[in-house]
Amino acid sequence: MTVRRENPAAHCTNVLASRRCRVILALTAVILTIYLILSRADDYYSQKTSTVLYKTSKDTNELDWSKYAYTQYVTSSEYLCVSVMLLERLHHLGSRADRVLIYPKKMLPDPETNDGGGSHDAEMLIKARDEYGVKLMPIQNQHKDTVDDTRANSYTKLLAFNLTQYERVIAIDADVTVLKHMDELFHLPPCPIAMPRAYWLLDDMKSRMTLSSHVMVIQPSEQEFDRIQKRVQLADNDEYDMELLNKLYADTAMVLPHRPFAMISSEFRETDHHLYLGSETEEWDPVAVLNEAKTVHFSDHPVPKPWKVHLTTDDQDSITNLEPKCEMKTKDSESDGEEEDCSGRDAWRQLYADFRERKAVSCTFMR
Ligand SMILES: *[C@@H]1O[C@H](CO)[C@@H](O)[C@H](O)[C@H]1NC(C)=O
Repeated sequence: MTVRRENPAAHCTNVLASRRCRVILALTAVILTIYLILSRADDYYSQKTSTVLYKTSKDTNELDWSKYAYTQYVTSSEYLCVSVMLLERLHHLGSRADRVLIYPKKMLPDPETNDGGGSHDAEMLIKARDEYGVKLMPIQNQHKDTVDDTRANSYTKLLAFNLTQYERVIAIDADVTVLKHMDELFHLPPCPIAMPRAYWLLDDMKSRMTLSSHVMVIQPSEQEFDRIQKRVQLADNDEYDMELLNKLYADTAMVLPHRPFAMISSEFRETDHHLYLGSETEEWDPVAVLNEAKTVHFSDHPVPKPWKVHLTTDDQDSITNLEPKCEMKTKDSESDGEEEDCSGRDAWRQLYADFRERKAVSCTFMR
């Protein structure tokens, strides 16, 4: 009996000179190399083609989507329908995360109930639950005496930090229209909060680094929620969720690229677009920009929010005056002179028309 027979590997190293061993080793090396090259190539191509930038190697099908949610917080009947419209849109766009609606308990005290009791609010909530798979979450309003009534309940938004049954939530303001879902944002690297910059302020030296709170990716956490609650207690009368979040997270928030995640509708009325584009040289193409945008915030002073409209002819006229202007452009072909380009105005109109059409379907009882 020899040592060589008991340990085949030792057998090979000892007799590397043996032709058979050399052939086997060489073959193994070739196969291994081919395997490695192929698996690398696979990674490379999946990275190149994937739109999910942050989780390249993991198949999103394997993820447990019940750990992620989009949230809407509602404080009044006026906003309820607009919020439900937003959640309906996410459902329609095929988002795989949960959709959670936080609402004042008095609208529908028991979210399990099948009876809306006849009130419009309750009917709307039940429709959201049954038709769009929305999870209902009743709460007491986070009311604080503030100067501005319309934002009196702005702190309610911060309740998203308390949704600790989720690993990550995306909180979007109701006056935002969602054009594409943003499921990829659930897989950002860990961070307490990710927000876009208020890009329209980037030229203003004093407030150029301001973070905007109309689209936020939040990691719910008891500790963070506690910290926020304490800070809310100390808040000044004119301090709202956005000011507060800027004070708390100015240095630690992850910055979401405002393009394509957070456009504002007044962009189409601007004449200079370098702040949105993030470039002095790129040409403004309203159609391309609208196709690329994931959300557009209806922020268009003095144009009213699109659900406010029950307009007189005078209002209608003044809005027509506020519409983006058509531009004169030189034609591509030689000597044809100029032609009118209304693509910016049409993109803007399309945004508002889409909202109004959806509202007419979903919010039949709203005027
Ligand atoms: C935060 O969540 C906990 C657990 O779900 C709940 O008991 C508590 O009332 C919530 N806090 C607020 C202020 O809503």
